[in-house]
Amino acid sequence: MQAEAYIVYTDGACSGNPGPGGWGAVIRRGELEEEISGGEQLTTNQRMELRAAVEALNKIPAGEKVKLHSDSAYLVNCFNQGWIEKWQYNGWVTSKGEPVQNRELWEQLLELAEKLEIEWVKVKGHSTDQLNQKCDQLARDAIPDGQPKGEDDILQKVKSSASNQGITVDVKESRRMAVLTGGGDCPGLNAVIRAVVKGAAYKYSYQVVGFNNGFKGLVENDGYVIDDYTVSGILNRGGTILGTSNRDNPFDYRPEGSDYTKTGEDRSASAINNLKNRGIECLVVIGGDGSLLLAHRFSELGVPIIGIPKTIDNDLPATDVTFGFDSAVTTATEAIDKIHTTAESHHRVMVVEVMGRYAGWIALEAGMAGGGDIILIPELPFQYSCIVDKIMDRRSKGKKFSIIVVAEGAHPKGEEPLYKQKGSVKRLGGIGEQVSREIERRTGMESRSTVLGHLQRGGSPTSYDRILATRFGVKAVELFHEKRYNRMVCIRGNSIESALLAEAVKGTRRVDPESEKVKTAIAVGTSFGCPIG
Ligand code: F6P
Repeated sequence: MQAEAYIVYTDGACSGNPGPGGWGAVIRRGELEEEISGGEQLTTNQRMELRAAVEALNKIPAGEKVKLHSDSAYLVNCFNQGWIEKWQYNGWVTSKGEPVQNRELWEQLLELAEKLEIEWVKVKGHSTDQLNQKCDQLARDAIPDGQPKGEDDILQKVKSSASNQGITVDVKESRRMAVLTGGGDCPGLNAVIRAVVKGAAYKYSYQVVGFNNGFKGLVENDGYVIDDYTVSGILNRGGTILGTSNRDNPFDYRPEGSDYTKTGEDRSASAINNLKNRGIECLVVIGGDGSLLLAHRFSELGVPIIGIPKTIDNDLPATDVTFGFDSAVTTATEAIDKIHTTAESHHRVMVVEVMGRYAGWIALEAGMAGGGDIILIPELPFQYSCIVDKIMDRRSKGKKFSIIVVAEGAHPKGEEPLYKQKGSVKRLGGIGEQVSREIERRTGMESRSTVLGHLQRGGSPTSYDRILATRFGVKAVELFHEKRYNRMVCIRGNSIESALLAEAVKGTRRVDPESEKVKTAIAVGTSFGCPIG
């Protein structure tokens, strides 16, 4: 029979002295790993043991063989004696008819037991084998004063307590960086996370901590070590496994559920402490202008930062392209292709509103790729008379339909962009509908508008974005290796480089109306709804 690849030790930490704690040690192929779960404020010894088992087993990839050593007869018997199945069958009540305590943890263990091949082993006391002895000592030493400690403390403790016992503990200490994804999501975020983690692990054995939900996780210290297994299979997945948030600002922080119209608290110091306590040398921020501005503020407070430019809007200075843009353009192009066929059948003017904020990149590129007859971008304020001229000109040539691609930030000359207000938040939107109504009024032709909205941020990244994201992620690791901080990775031409973060947060990169792309579109008859074309 093949031997187990993993051995897990768990301990409730303070028998007879309920308090915070609970941990597990994962030994992968004979080597004690750094992934040791630390304490949590828990109130019973049994609960600590269960939490430790759940945390430790969660670090192991599905399908692996595991030997779980525990000094808790209760935990081991639950599985070996089939108690847990009986509880489940009886609707989570014990044989005494009482509700099973810590049900959520038992349920998680059941799920893990289905995913892994676990052998549950009761160990006698704590002196039967060296590894268990180490783990036991680790648990006790880690929480002498009843306070949960960070992972580094625990590692230090395990080393010193083991050496006091004459045991050599081979714990690899590696440099550690953290990563978070902030702001609106876009395809390719997972591909970057994967590249950072794999790039750090394969070449250098560096460790990566992921913070959940953008800067919120950093403030709340909600993070965990992400490794090669965590990032397996995510290259082609949209969204972000870390979650994101575009309203949690550590310098003006409001806890969950608070009133977002009121001023928050400055929690930047807790964010910085969380990095320090976890032994994190550098924070990698994958974000657009908002998140990179926050990252820049942290860099001014002395936090080493590396930025990775993300946004479907493609509007960041200091890089020719941001990842996510190509995927959004591809989605918008596919939509325009579909709108085309129905426009032609009904002889209508179809208006497609795309995202992009104050930059017209998505409208320009999707408009060109989808053969839009009129492209309206914020950089070239439009005039309805020019739009009508173009539609009529097409009609006179027997083309009874027209496609207009309008950026959400586009606006008529002399007017402001349109916004939609939701509570205290103002977001761009509504110009597509306005253009459509105005065209019906001025031409008498039927018109419909479609807002592509968040469709442009969803789904799988294109192969271009997967590759760009991978190149950006690996470059970020190289910068970390060289300790070149406060920079943002970027692409110039086809070369992956880096720029000063300060340069990357200066303003917005917009479409140049004089650019070759705009001129090319005009050369094939596209109108920008204004006298230049
Ligand atoms: O910046 C990305 C983006 O999708 C913009 O194009 C759009 O204006 C905005 O985010 C929408 O934000 P939200 O996800 O908050 O609706």
